Amino acid sequence: MNNNLRFPSTWSLSMAHAMAVANGKSARAQSRRLQVSAAHMYLQWLHEHMPLPNNTTPAAVNAEHAAIFASAVRRAGTLRARAQAPYSHFPVGAALLCADGTIIDGVNVESSSYGGTICAERSALVSALSQGYKNFAMIAIRANTETPISPCGSCRQLLYDYAPDLLVVMLSQDGSSHMAYIRELLPLAFGATDLATAATAQKASR
Ligand code: THU
Repeated sequence: MNNNLRFPSTWSLSMAHAMAVANGKSARAQSRRLQVSAAHMYLQWLHEHMPLPNNTTPAAVNAEHAAIFASAVRRAGTLRARAQAPYSHFPVGAALLCADGTIIDGVNVESSSYGGTICAERSALVSALSQGYKNFAMIAIRANTETPISPCGSCRQLLYDYAPDLLVVMLSQDGSSHMAYIRELLPLAFGATDLATAATAQKASR
């Protein structure tokens, strides 16, 4: 089994990815960003969401971010062993990377009343929030699947609610990966602002 994410040379850059990252930037910035490699793009993204101490040199920043990234990916893999999946026999590990570099563990925990089951992603998020973490950079998810595991709809919504900028790294059993931002996984997302807009509209109509 290959536990190492092939970082960063084999990452592919899809136009959708690039556009999502470039979203909100000037046209010049967009075209410049579209030209950079995917690896650089994700490192830059980590730099924005997981700043390192000011005295870290630029070269060290990249190396350190790459190492933190890789360790979150490895963690998702090892966490599968802690999954509580007696019914589905489908163990999932999720490593949530906080903005300060802390990795919070998550596994799926199944209930004999099947609907009470919680997925690894939500389990990691709930644990992180319970411990006081509020800013998140990335979540790595791994299952024993042939293709990279993709988070379910409920997890996408909750992740979006608490970490709308999250980078999601999806991994298969053999370590092949796919990456996307949570916004891309939940297009036209419903969110807190919709509730606020509705409340305002209701007040205005009274
Ligand atoms: N599961 C996760 O933990 N994460 C996912 O992204 C998909 C599904 C869990 C829930 C349940 O315990 C098992 O996998 C089968 O659905």
